[in-house]
Parts: sequence; C-alpha cells; structure tokens
Amino acid sequence: MSVWAVLAAAGSGERLGADRPKAFVRLGDLPLLAESLERLDASDWIDAIVVAAPPGWEEPAILLAEELGCSKVSSCVTGGATRAESVRLALAEVPEEAAVVVVHDAARPLVSEAVIERVLAALNQGWDGAVSGLPVSDTVKRVEGDAVVETLDREQLRVVQTPQAFVADVLRAAYAGDVAGATDCASLVEARGGRVTVVAGDPRLAKITDAEDLERVAALL
Ligand code: CTP
Ligand code: MG
Repeated sequence: MSVWAVLAAAGSGERLGADRPKAFVRLGDLPLLAESLERLDASDWIDAIVVAAPPGWEEPAILLAEELGCSKVSSCVTGGATRAESVRLALAEVPEEAAVVVVHDAARPLVSEAVIERVLAALNQGWDGAVSGLPVSDTVKRVEGDAVVETLDREQLRVVQTPQAFVADVLRAAYAGDVAGATDCASLVEARGGRVTVVAGDPRLAKITDAEDLERVAALL
C-alpha cells in the first residue's frame, strides 16, 4: 500500500505580510516549508511527496528539497488561486497506484510522526478519511451580523487541522467536482457522503497565519 503526501504550500501569505510567500518566510534558519518537508520526508509512513508551490517559486521549492536531501519529493506543481485548487493540481501528480493520500498544510510546520500515524490508523479501521482535530475550549456562538442567533454545544465541536488522510480514490472523486469554497479536503469528501473521522490533533499544529503565529511557532522549534 503506497502512501503519498500532498504538501499545500502555494499560498501568498497575505495576512503574514512578508516580502515573499509564507512558505519561504524564515522559520529558524530555513524557509518555513523546510520544516514540514523534512518531517514528511522522514516519516516511516510516507512513500512520496508532491509539493504545490506558489507561482514562480517551483524552482526554489525543488532546490530546497534537494538541499535538505528530501528524496521522497516526486514533483512540485504550480499551485492554484485557492488552497482547494492547489490540492487538486498536486493530486493530479499522484499516480493511480497510490492507495492513500495525506494532505498537509506547509503553514503547519510542526507535523509529527504520531499524528500522521493516527490519521492513517483510522483509515485501516475502515474510514474514508481522517482529520486531526482539537476540542473547543471557548464558547462558540452563531451570529447574524451583530446578533447572536444560537450558542453551540462545544462538546460537539472540533477545531480541525491537517494532516488529513484519505483513501486515494475517495479523495480523487471528491476533487473531480466543484471545489470552490472548500477550506479543507475533508469537507469535499463529507459533501459526497464519505465517512470521515476525527483523531486527536496537536496544539503545536496550529496554523501560522500572522506574524505573531510565526514567533510562537519559532519559539517551539
Ligand atoms: N494554500 C495553497 N494554495 C493557495 C492558498 C493556500 O496551497 N492558493 C496553502 C497555504 O500555502 C497554506 C495552506 O494552504 O499552507 C493554508 O492556507 P493559508 O494559511 O490561508 O495560507 P495563505 O493563503 O498563504 O495565507 P493568506 O490567506 O493570509 O494569504
Ligand atoms: Mg489563504
């Protein structure tokens, strides 16, 4: 059974506001992309990796993978206008023989072997997809404009991260349709009736969105 990883790194990082795309902003001594790339490459569970890079940054991404000795990187595609488009383009480079696809955001550099193991184990139990997620500790309300409409039961809520793992055929089918508006892969699988489970995530996987997030993650290195 071969497991392929798709690393979504093609975002522009507008909210971070750096002079380059988020994946190439410095985290420690290296571009942010290096951290997740090395971790996926070192994983015993992952056979090959496709990277989606920002337009014009394909070559730097390949060179970085070479410098780091990430030999599992199979190809690097030019990303699309949205995350979903980037994943779709990368998925097109995943061969038919791949049985499982793990999708991960470069904006979550501290991916661990343990969380990869947890999402993959769930597929072995028969789920179509598995996402890493955390409980919600705040009270969450649904609003319309300024008005609170409803207070949600937080016991039933999870904040969802990547990695997310899927049976490859299920993910391909989900990406064959309209992907506009999807903020994660699992939502597309759910929309087609796929069975998705949530496994324990990791607080260290919190996404880097702004400059403060970058400092917080750098301190965890
Ligand atoms: N992503 C992508 N292709 C896009 C947009 C996003 O591959 N067209 C990836 C990002 O590189 C990131 C992940 O999806 O790893 C989550 O996106 P986000 O945190 O929103 O990153 P950016 O889109 O780069 O940031 P911003 O929204 O602030 O521009
Ligand atoms: Mg974005």
